[in-house]
Amino acid sequence: MTTRTQGAEALPSLAELRRRGSPIVMITAYDYPGGRIAEQAGADVVLVGDSAANTVLGYATTREISLEELLMLTRAVRRAVRGIPVIGDLPFGSYEASDDLAVASARRFMEEAGCDAVKLEGAGAMLSRVRAIIAAGIPVIGHVGLLPQSVTSPDGYRARGRDVQQAIDIVADAESLAAAGCAAVVVEAVPSEIGTLITERVDVPVIGIGAGAGTDGQVLVYHDLLGYGESRPAKFVRRYASAHELFVSAVARWALDVRSRAFPSKDEGYALAPEVLAEVRSKL
Ligand code: KIV
Repeated sequence: MTTRTQGAEALPSLAELRRRGSPIVMITAYDYPGGRIAEQAGADVVLVGDSAANTVLGYATTREISLEELLMLTRAVRRAVRGIPVIGDLPFGSYEASDDLAVASARRFMEEAGCDAVKLEGAGAMLSRVRAIIAAGIPVIGHVGLLPQSVTSPDGYRARGRDVQQAIDIVADAESLAAAGCAAVVVEAVPSEIGTLITERVDVPVIGIGAGAGTDGQVLVYHDLLGYGESRPAKFVRRYASAHELFVSAVARWALDVRSRAFPSKDEGYALAPEVLAEVRSKL
């Protein structure tokens, strides 16, 4: 029997887009303005990814962000995003050890941050966690291919599934996650042919990041898309802005204005009536 939290119907707006063949737009966000921008720009779904570790907290890998840190960011995004689903990303260490731990962490994203679903990385032993979370009434999005939480050094961010066995394993992982009841599956950094093959073989929305054009949708990291930050973008990122340079130049112009006393102008402050000032001076 299919429950409300199981399979594609757990996130009906995404299932409907897949049915219509209309590409799903997922973007990450990590704070209130980012959430407002994502929704106003017409995204279909927002992921508060553990990529926040790198993009906003300055950690070297996603393994370093804590559950508390990610919950705080997720609450800010939820306050901003009103009409589309918000997905909470279970961080490293918050679900792998046991089904009970996974359910407890997933509940916190639903109850304390108002999420519509949670995402976790991997299949295999994680299938039991997926089933337990779904049995607790919480929709789950799976994640296969490159699993950033398994990467321990910067050179580990390489494409997966380029040889026969790895490709077969990744397709099988996606199939097993869909069979376990996932509402959607994210596929990261695999050859386009594998992204397409997975999309053909599972019956839930497949959202790719570096998985080619044949998936049901695409996700990009907000900071990568906007050029917000100094990190070198992955091969699959297309930059639509240079926010970092724009912001540095704006702050630098303000600093120049402060140093030349061009800022603030009279209009950028509050005025005191001359008689009030006179009385203040006389009483000091
Ligand atoms: O944390 C994240 O931003 C992600 C996306 C790369 C899908 O998991």
